[in-house]
Amino acid sequence: MAVSVDLLSNPIFVLGSFLVLFIFHNYIHKEPQHGKKYHPTATTLLQPLINYKKLHDYMTSLAIRYKTYRVLSPFHGMIYTTDPVNVEYMLKTNFNNYGKGYYLPSVTSDLLGEGIFTVDGDKWREQRKVASQEFSTKILRDYSSVTFRNNTIKLGEILSQAADSNQIIDINDLFMKLTMDSIFKVGFGIDLDNLGGNEEGVRFSLAFDDANNLIYKRFYDPSWRIKKFFNIGMEAELKTNLKIVDDFVYKLIQTKIEQMQMSKDESLFKKDDILSRFVEVHHNNPKYLRDIILNFVLAGKDPIAISMSWLIYELCKHPEIQEKVAKEILEALNMKNEEITDVADFMARVSDSALEKMPYLHAALSESIRLYPALPMDPKVSFTDDVLPDGCNVNKGDVVTYMPYAMGRMKYIWGDDALEFKPERWLDQDGCYRPESPFKFTAFQAGPRTCLGRDFAYRHLKIIASVVLGCFAFKLRNEKEVMSYRLSINVHVEAPLQVYVSRRSVFQNP
Ligand code: HEM
Ligand SMILES: *[C@@H]1O[C@H](CO)[C@@H](O)[C@H](O)[C@H]1NC(C)=O
Repeated sequence: MAVSVDLLSNPIFVLGSFLVLFIFHNYIHKEPQHGKKYHPTATTLLQPLINYKKLHDYMTSLAIRYKTYRVLSPFHGMIYTTDPVNVEYMLKTNFNNYGKGYYLPSVTSDLLGEGIFTVDGDKWREQRKVASQEFSTKILRDYSSVTFRNNTIKLGEILSQAADSNQIIDINDLFMKLTMDSIFKVGFGIDLDNLGGNEEGVRFSLAFDDANNLIYKRFYDPSWRIKKFFNIGMEAELKTNLKIVDDFVYKLIQTKIEQMQMSKDESLFKKDDILSRFVEVHHNNPKYLRDIILNFVLAGKDPIAISMSWLIYELCKHPEIQEKVAKEILEALNMKNEEITDVADFMARVSDSALEKMPYLHAALSESIRLYPALPMDPKVSFTDDVLPDGCNVNKGDVVTYMPYAMGRMKYIWGDDALEFKPERWLDQDGCYRPESPFKFTAFQAGPRTCLGRDFAYRHLKIIASVVLGCFAFKLRNEKEVMSYRLSINVHVEAPLQVYVSRRSVFQNP
């Protein structure tokens, strides 16, 4: 990725921000009013900027001292919370008071448009309704399962080759390609074939991921509007990437609409992908179709890849847990003493009922998501003056952020072993999976705006994991390596996740 200057590692930018903060703080910041109780101010905006590479851990260290705290900012009040009581209040009890507001959509609209992630109120309600109907259909369930199965077989073939030639692979890169291919296919009905190295698919995917990263940089660079106006620096780069994305997507939409209008016989073109299903209703609004489906792609692909990567990483750090997961998978598939030579054969055994018999794998996935929630922080704007259940005040316009990443590391929520990777915490005495309160395990948000793709995500994570971990064993290239995250909207692994892969004994060389 060829991003221009990394602003935050630029001392002039950091010093400049400090100066601006210092000057403006005294004039603009609305000091908490007398007589009202506010959360303790833990730091100023400058510290997170300086600590931005380790931002989530820095915010976690503050949360160990204060469950909920303020960060002094010249722009608006900033409140950060890990307290399940406050989280339940903002996401459910007083849901209507906490939304996206105007700021976030104004920064992200070039990529996300008016998709479900950026809107509040009636616009959100309408999309939520349509999307949740879509998610509950058997068509989507079946079509997406077949898609993930097909692509996981492709991944398995790549892993087999790597195992046979003792090659080191970047498993994170492969998961990113797998989920891009799969989610795009479910969304648009098109095979990008990143896993197979298709040039056009790879070009689109790179542009999409770069656009996503560049949009995120806007949050840290107040001058982005000026750069956009003059089309310079990262904004010029963003524009190029957005054009590649839009050209590609609008062409698909146009083709689909034309097919639809030309064909009298519906069954000839009617497909199960989401675009085909939406074109029937919204064929005269390509922009709306683009927004809906790109939001879907964005919602689905990175979180699934991220959860798989961190799972593999933790299982490499805990080989005994990796063995236990593999054992459960092979038992659920009734394959203790058989040999298998083909990933497709193996996949054919992974039935829905077999997936139900993998509570330990389910627990390991939840553990990966607890410690590495795809969305580490989720900010909401308070639309009115309010008081949180802990008795502290929130002013109109304050941004209240709940922090799934920090929450996963709080001993007061998870006990003294909060930092440990321990699937057992999700199982009861009989080994059955025991869900947690969504106000403690906030990775999927909670309340009316809970992630719509949670069941979808678990199903597909289990399809991928059962084959990947049932057929293969993994070891980190460098067993001492401690992997951190890369700062972006999601907690991606910081560096290539380089692993050795070997075949498990049930899965022998042909
Ligand atoms: C491990 C996987 C996943 C995690 C941790 C996750 C997490 C989240 C979170 C935190 C939100 C709330 C974001 C916000 O504030 O607006 C959300 C919303 C959403 N997610 Fe997921 N997600 C995952 C997978 C998926 C998948 C696979 C899909 C679809 C294919 C999906 C679809 C959605 C949609 C449509 C929303 C918007 C809901 C709304 O605003 O009403 N998610 N997800
Ligand atoms: C999955 O693979 C099978 C066999 O190669 C193929 O017939 C089918 O069309 C594929 N389905 C999807 C949704 O990719």
